[in-house]
Amino acid sequence: MHRIKIFDTTLRDGEQSAGVNLNFSEKFEIAKQLERLNVDIIEAGFPAASKGDFYSVQQIANHIRNCSVTGLARSVKGDIDAAWEALKEGAEPRLHVFLATSPIHREFKLKQTKEQVIETAVQAVQYAATKFPIIQWSAEDACRTELPFLAEIVEKVIQAGAQVINIPDTVGYISPKEYGEIFQYLKKHVPSISKVSLSAHCHDDLGMAIANSLAAVENGATQVEGTINGIGERAGNAALEEFAVALYIRKDHYQVETRLNLKEISRTSRLVSKLTGMVVPANKAVVGRNAFAHESGIHQDGVLKEKTTYEIISPDLVGYQSNSMVLGKHSGRHAFRNRLDELGLSISDEDVNHLFSVFKDLADKKKEMTDDDLAAIVLEEKLSK
Ligand code: KIV
Ligand code: ZN
Repeated sequence: MHRIKIFDTTLRDGEQSAGVNLNFSEKFEIAKQLERLNVDIIEAGFPAASKGDFYSVQQIANHIRNCSVTGLARSVKGDIDAAWEALKEGAEPRLHVFLATSPIHREFKLKQTKEQVIETAVQAVQYAATKFPIIQWSAEDACRTELPFLAEIVEKVIQAGAQVINIPDTVGYISPKEYGEIFQYLKKHVPSISKVSLSAHCHDDLGMAIANSLAAVENGATQVEGTINGIGERAGNAALEEFAVALYIRKDHYQVETRLNLKEISRTSRLVSKLTGMVVPANKAVVGRNAFAHESGIHQDGVLKEKTTYEIISPDLVGYQSNSMVLGKHSGRHAFRNRLDELGLSISDEDVNHLFSVFKDLADKKKEMTDDDLAAIVLEEKLSK
């Protein structure tokens, strides 16, 4: 099994979520937790963006020892210099430099021809190579770029000194099959491709960030980028906890692994949610409140008999203590009685039918039955005798 590197950009792309602004101590706390989670690379920010971001990136680079710390730079000397000043004391300083390549961005944003875009990219990488030991180059909006042009510019930046080539789906536009084909195309048409690592960076505008990241892995990507809880610009980035758990649960299929300490996932998710103020939806895969909750009678009965009937991820794997049986109108007798036993309110076989029907009547009127509701049902029954 070969290893996929996890590049976490919660503190850069994640912080670009509308309404999110992390101060230094919040960024530092998240970076320390990402180190415990054991991601390979932390993108700590965009040093040229503000004094605050510069300071955060510098402090994180200086104090994190078990991950490589990187910072983002546009293809201009000032950004690259700022990134170097912030990152140079890091354990493994690496630059993440980018330039847009798609026709839309070339025409309307950069106002540069293809030749000018190549020249700008090559000069930036050559300049960065005079400072940084590792350079990642990203083709912004790669997925809407003409493939022959993408292959040409990738070859040129590799020759200029880039060691990691990132293919961002900046606007979350691509489908899994097409994304895989881009990696195949580059492997076939870029002569120096074997000298570099290929990276995937997916946004979730059409809800395909995880499917696309997995397709990239199946087609040769050895690094995947994303954020905790999938936060990020617009609909967000690929959620790293979902990606890592998908690889783990389906390792029979993907035949790759990450070095993540999966047990730290729940703690990391809660911390990022608390500090960014971005609430995790209850039904979110892996870290949502309902991800390990069973409500219907059929499911509860199955899980009480054998967990794997309806649970493909053990809550313990990602740092949760246990699954939960939510008692409501869909619940069955088995879960009802099991919960009463757990609460020390065991009832006799004769009482079960009657109490269960009282429970069902009340459950019909409420979203969720609490432990207090159950205690009240049993107590009332005892008092009426
Ligand atoms: O989505 C994107 O294109 C980016 C780049 C800066 C890598 O975040
Ligand atoms: Zn992005």
